[in-house]
Formats: sequence, structure tokens, C-alpha cells
Amino acid sequence: MGAAVEVTELAKVINERIIVDRITFSVEQGEIFGLLGANGSGKTTTFNMLSGLLAPSSGTMTILGKSEKELRKSRPEIGFVTQENSFYETLTVRENLEFFASQFGIPGKETGAMVKKLLGQMKLADKTDVLAAKLSGGMKRRLNMACSLVHDPKVIFLDEPTVGLDPIVRRDIWAVIEELNSEGKTIIITSHYMEEIEHLCDRVAIMFAGRIVASGTPKELKERYKLKQMEDVFAHLMKPVV
Ligand SMILES: Nc1ncnc2c1ncn2[C@@H]1O[C@H](COP(=O)(O)OP(=O)(O)OP(=O)(O)O)[C@@H](O)[C@H]1O
Ligand SMILES: [Mg+2]
Repeated sequence: MGAAVEVTELAKVINERIIVDRITFSVEQGEIFGLLGANGSGKTTTFNMLSGLLAPSSGTMTILGKSEKELRKSRPEIGFVTQENSFYETLTVRENLEFFASQFGIPGKETGAMVKKLLGQMKLADKTDVLAAKLSGGMKRRLNMACSLVHDPKVIFLDEPTVGLDPIVRRDIWAVIEELNSEGKTIIITSHYMEEIEHLCDRVAIMFAGRIVASGTPKELKERYKLKQMEDVFAHLMKPVV
């Protein structure tokens, strides 16, 4: 299978500050790929460029073979689950899903089946008619995820999907991610939880100050730096080179 995502020398400069500094990586179709890095290292900015929210300053990217120019016209095959919840608190769970389905141009007759599937997959079936504002933190994260998947995207960007969740809810979300992956979806995930990354990811890239400073499988990285834990690898790479 070919690459789902190919990024070459991608950069973003905002107010003369280099936020993402010529990063290069590729993700194969069907992979779960982790983008790691300290707070402020440029992960969300990278996702914003890949999902079309932000124009790159330079470099190229292709998603499922589509160039940046083609992607600008439409990105129907991408789902972006944002770091901050992006649904409407004043709508119910079902109303949110139906609203996002209409935004993605899903035909009305297909919406019902997709909403039903997502309600089941995200364990929200018994919350269908509850206002989003009334959901627990874990349910909100699951609704946030569901809203970005209503158009059945092939490539899914997950920006810290389990931040602030208890270990049980986190594992529920891992199971959903694994299920989506087993359906053939390519997943690119950011997280600060190393056990999550080791559990889910085939390969990772680690960012520091806008640059990719290491990439490989978690096992390869531990061997490369002769460290037993991914957390130690991460800490090792976060030390600025002097
Ligand atoms: N629109 C913007 N204007 C100015 N600075 C920005 C803008 N967007 C991002 N930045 C800055 O770019 C840097 C990288 O931000 P980004 O959100 O991409 O980091 P991150 O790796 O996702 O961090 P976190 O782990 O905290 O989510 C930060 O210092 C941030 O303040
Ligand atoms: Mg971020």
C-alpha cells in the first residue's frame, strides 16, 4: 500500500517566528503514527496545515496522493479530531452529529445509519438526546471524535484525544482507535502519554522546537538511545543541543 500522508520540508512561520521547521515524514496507509513533542513544539500547527486550516509557509504535503493544491479544493477523506472540543454545547448528541453530517454534505438518507454506528462505537447510544453541555469529560471527548468522523474519513488526525481522561475511559478510546484502524483507517495521533503511544503506535516522530529530532518504532528508538522507557527517550530528546 502507498503512503497515506507524505510531508516534505513542511514549514510554518507566524509573525516571523518559525513554528514548524522543515519537517519531513511519511505515514503508510493503515498505520497508526504518533507525533510526539513537548508543549509548543508544533504538533497542532502541523495538524492544522495537514487538515487545511492553515496554509504552509513552504514545503509540500500529499494526502492519499492528492497535492496541496488539490487538497485546498476539498479534503473529504480527512477527519480532524481537534485538541479542543469543537461541537456545540447547546445541541444534543444527535443534533451535533446530524449538524456535522450536513456540514460534510452527507446525504440525509445516509446520515441515520452513520449516526447510529457512531453512537454505538463511541458508547453514546444512551446519551443520544442529552445536551452536549451535560456530558462528562470522557463523553465529550468521544462526541468530539464522533463529530469529526461522520463522513467516514480514510485518514484521521487525533490531537490529544485522551487528555485529562481517567484510565478506563482512556482505554475505551484506545479500543475505538484500534477498531477504526482495523477498518483500514490511517491514524495520526498526538499524545503526551507514552504508554498510550507504545500501546497504539506502529511508528512515531518526535518534535522539538518545530523540528523532527527522531523517528522510528518505539522499540527502535529505545534501542537507539539505549533507554528502557519511551519516557526516557522523550526526555533525552527534549534537551536542547548546546
Ligand atoms: N496563530 C498563532 N500565532 C502565534 N503563535 C502561534 C500560533 N499558533 C501557534 N503558535 C505558537 O506556535 C508554537 C507551537 O504551537 P502548537 O500549538 O503547534 O504546539 P503543540 O506541539 O501542539 O503544543 P501542545 O502540546 O501544548 O498542544 C507555540 O509556541 C504557539 O504559541
Ligand atoms: Mg497541540
